[in-house]
Amino acid sequence: MAILRTEDGRTLTDLSEIGQELASLGIKLNKWPVTENPLIQDLLAQDSLSDGEKETVLQALDHYFVELQHTAGYQMRDLIVIHPEIPNLAGMLSKFEQVHTHADDEVRYIIAGEGIFGFVRPDGSQVELTVQPQEYINVPAGTEHWFYLTSAQRVKAVRYFTNTEGWTPEYTGTAIRIHRAAIAVG
Ligand SMILES: [Fe+2]
Repeated sequence: MAILRTEDGRTLTDLSEIGQELASLGIKLNKWPVTENPLIQDLLAQDSLSDGEKETVLQALDHYFVELQHTAGYQMRDLIVIHPEIPNLAGMLSKFEQVHTHADDEVRYIIAGEGIFGFVRPDGSQVELTVQPQEYINVPAGTEHWFYLTSAQRVKAVRYFTNTEGWTPEYTGTAIRIHRAAIAVG
C-alpha cells in the first residue's frame, strides 16, 4: 500500500487521494496484482536471484510488458534486485539519493520490498511516496525526484524502458527539505 507524506505533515494512503496529490506532476500510480504462483512467490522471498530466476519472474509478469509495448512503445524490461549484501550498495544507491531528472520516464513495478520516491512539485513543494509490492509507477521525464530505500534495504522491481540512453541521472542541485521517512523510523 502506497504511503504519501507531504511537507505539511499529512500522510495519505488512499490511492486515488495520492493520485490527486501527484496529478500536477503527471505521475501515474496503479495497482497491478503480482501472480500468486507459488514458484514465483518463493523466488520473490529470496534475497538474491540468478539471471535465470530473474527471467522466470519477468516472464510470469510479461503480460504487463506486452501491454506497455502496445500502448506506449516500451522495448525492454529487466528486474532489479536489491538487498543488504550487495557489494557497494551504498555507492550504487547514492547516485539516486539527490534530486535529479531523467530524459526518459522512470517506470517501475514493485514486486517485493519497498522504496521511497521523493518529488518536487511544480509549486516547489516536496512529497515522499513509499511504493510497495503490486504498485506500478510512471515518473514522467524531467520530473525532479529522488529515490532511496527504507531501513529494510530490500526491493525487487521490474524496470521498463523505451531505450536505456535517456536513463542517467541529471542532478538539479535542489535541496531536499522534507524530512526523510527512513531516517524517522531509524
Ligand atoms: Fe531517478
